[in-house]
Amino acid sequence: MNTPTSPRCPFHAGTDLPAPALQPPGAWPPGPPPGLTGWSLLRRMSRDLFGALSEWKQAYGDVVHLRMWPEHQIVLTDPQLARELLVEHHDALIRWERGIEVFSQVHGRSVLIAEGAPWRSKRQALQPNFTPKAVQAFVPTITGAVGKALCDWPARDARWPIESALTSLTMDVILRMLFSSEVDADARKAEQAVHEISVAGNAELYWPASWPDWMPWKRAKRRAIAVLDSLINRHIAARLQVERNAWPVDILTRLLELHRDDPAAWPLRAVRDECMTTFLAGHETAAATLTWWSWCMAANPAVQAKAKEEVAVRLQGRMPTAADLPALGYVTQTLQETLRLYPAAPVLLSRRSTRPITLGGWQLPARTIFAIPVQLLQHDARWFPEPQEFRPERFATDAPGHPRGALMPFGTGPRVCLGQHLAMTEMTVIAAMILQRFTLTAPEDMAAPRPAFNISLRPDAPLRLQVSAAQGG
Ligand code: HEM
Repeated sequence: MNTPTSPRCPFHAGTDLPAPALQPPGAWPPGPPPGLTGWSLLRRMSRDLFGALSEWKQAYGDVVHLRMWPEHQIVLTDPQLARELLVEHHDALIRWERGIEVFSQVHGRSVLIAEGAPWRSKRQALQPNFTPKAVQAFVPTITGAVGKALCDWPARDARWPIESALTSLTMDVILRMLFSSEVDADARKAEQAVHEISVAGNAELYWPASWPDWMPWKRAKRRAIAVLDSLINRHIAARLQVERNAWPVDILTRLLELHRDDPAAWPLRAVRDECMTTFLAGHETAAATLTWWSWCMAANPAVQAKAKEEVAVRLQGRMPTAADLPALGYVTQTLQETLRLYPAAPVLLSRRSTRPITLGGWQLPARTIFAIPVQLLQHDARWFPEPQEFRPERFATDAPGHPRGALMPFGTGPRVCLGQHLAMTEMTVIAAMILQRFTLTAPEDMAAPRPAFNISLRPDAPLRLQVSAAQGG
């Protein structure tokens, strides 16, 4: 039986259809023939993940079964079912162990990695630092970093390495928010380390187990983790040398307060792990998104002109403040549309069910693995007509809208991105300040960059764009 891909009305998706017929236990949704072991499917995915998944979606529908011995995996591209899984069945899910094993080598046992009660208590303790209100307090820190960085951008350059410039900038922003410190020589080394860890991590995800890190060919990864560890440990040690009443207002101080109040629940190792996750999750995804945004601006001059106009009218040449951000509605729409076309996390971390789940009429046993390729959901023409077109107007307040679950660049449910408000605030400030000072143009002979997936979604070759200082900028 095929699971049909239905052309439903966006407003009523999930509400106007009768409940699907219940399939007998033991029946699996349709999927590609696995052959003897199904491992050829895994090889296919490791070569071209999105090519393989969209082909199977075309052939088998929105709920696809991949039999890869010894596992059963379900790929979900139905918005309603994806949401139902992450929200209603949250308590029946853990992260796929192999993914967590790979990530924990770097992130330790941070909120990104933890499960069950330890996750809940970490999430509760950290959440207050990331509410929309708490995030507003960071705006002056962000504008300070952006103002300084943009002074170093050239007045004109035909091929400015904008991806690298934006990565340094988002790293500077996160270092200031985390440690009240600016990018220095160590942070430059960290940039390369982050890249090495992403490439190594992505490759390991397709292997059932990791070779130990002491194997000679893993020297680069080993060194990369040591670079990041030393960066973070140095900041923690330096802070502990300072009198408590002289600690600056930043994320490290808040983490060390947790440590001071309850050292058993928050040993220094836990503080280190959260710093690592905030550092990595906090700059890499924002850098990837801003890189794609700069490409979208360069490739769509009319959109860029409209966004520039909004910034000029609203800010009148001033630095943005937190109070200005709601007025930058069109700039925000350009970022939302970028996140739709190029989600920095194009596949959510896979989940494993810990008890049987019924989803879309399928009775799926415990230990089933679930994958949600956000990128395919967000490129689905049923919810986003002409999905490959960059159209920020899709997110205007009077636009037709899309079903819940069709758009989730930050995930959804209790494990939704902890830093989503911080990310949107930071990216809106950076985008507005770039638009205020520069015009971005694609070099004439340049082809559209192709997305490459190494944990986050980046252009396959480092992006360079023409930048020219805006008049009066
Ligand atoms: C454009 C920027 C960002 C994107 C697209 C993004 C995307 C995501 C996604 C999709 C998830 C959920 C993964 C899943 O369900 O499997 C996630 C989780 C998370 N993100 Fe982000 N993120 C961004 C920025 C940030 C920032 C700035 C921070 C922190 C400073 C952050 C911290 C986290 C953490 C800690 C989690 C794990 C939450 C948990 O498991 O409870 N992210 N992010």
